Amino acid sequence: MSNYSVRADALLKTFGRRLIFNNLSFEFKKNGIFGIAGANGSGKSTLIKIIAGLISPTRGSIIHTNEGKVIDSEHLHNYIGFVSPYLILYDEFTAWENLSYFAKIRGVKFDEERIKFLFYRFSLQTRKDDYVKAYSSGMKQRLKFIFALMHKPVLLIFDEPTSNLDDEGKAVVYEMIKEEGGKNIVIVASNEKTDISLCPEIIVLENYKE
Ligand SMILES: Nc1ncnc2c1ncn2[C@@H]1O[C@H](COP(=O)(O)OP(=O)(O)OP(=O)(O)O)[C@@H](O)[C@H]1O
Ligand SMILES: [Mg+2]
Repeated sequence: MSNYSVRADALLKTFGRRLIFNNLSFEFKKNGIFGIAGANGSGKSTLIKIIAGLISPTRGSIIHTNEGKVIDSEHLHNYIGFVSPYLILYDEFTAWENLSYFAKIRGVKFDEERIKFLFYRFSLQTRKDDYVKAYSSGMKQRLKFIFALMHKPVLLIFDEPTSNLDDEGKAVVYEMIKEEGGKNIVIVASNEKTDISLCPEIIVLENYKE
């Protein structure tokens, strides 16, 4: 089991005069599946980006620790696997080239055996050398999971994990989320009831609007 924790204290986020959420605190430790629910525009993706260190809260703090040591923001990417509609893959590179390129710029390990295994797991093994521009939207979503999992992160952050996936793709993702949640921390933000039903603990953003 991981010895990772994410702790948020009294997060406030505003965009101009619009309040997105206020007084939001939580602690995710060691392992488990944690849900973030709320209507369109309620702030799920915003909270996910704050947790991943991509944007800052207006007030409040978010602290990641591993083995009891606080992680600096510039090292967070070593620990995090991220899937989101905001993640952009390069159309002019093959799937394999995208992964090796991102591994290089993020300074994470490029483990060819693990990546081949992940291409099998997500049923893309025959398409790994195809250009991403030739991928369907569901294939791109599957590739994002390979990208998120390739460096064996201990914190998995998934925004709309099952978007564009067919039933087989959803089943693979649900199985992976359950397996990872047994040893690592998995955060799932979604509008899909079946995605959220995987989560024993759920943050409902409508409860943080004042
Ligand atoms: N960069 C930004 N500047 C201004 N407002 C923003 C910005 N990003 C998000 N917002 C606003 O913050 C609110 C929350 O947006 P967010 O994308 O977090 O919602 P969401 O819960 O992920 O919605 P969805 O279910 O549609 O994905 C919305 O009102 C949105 O317009
Ligand atoms: Mg969103």
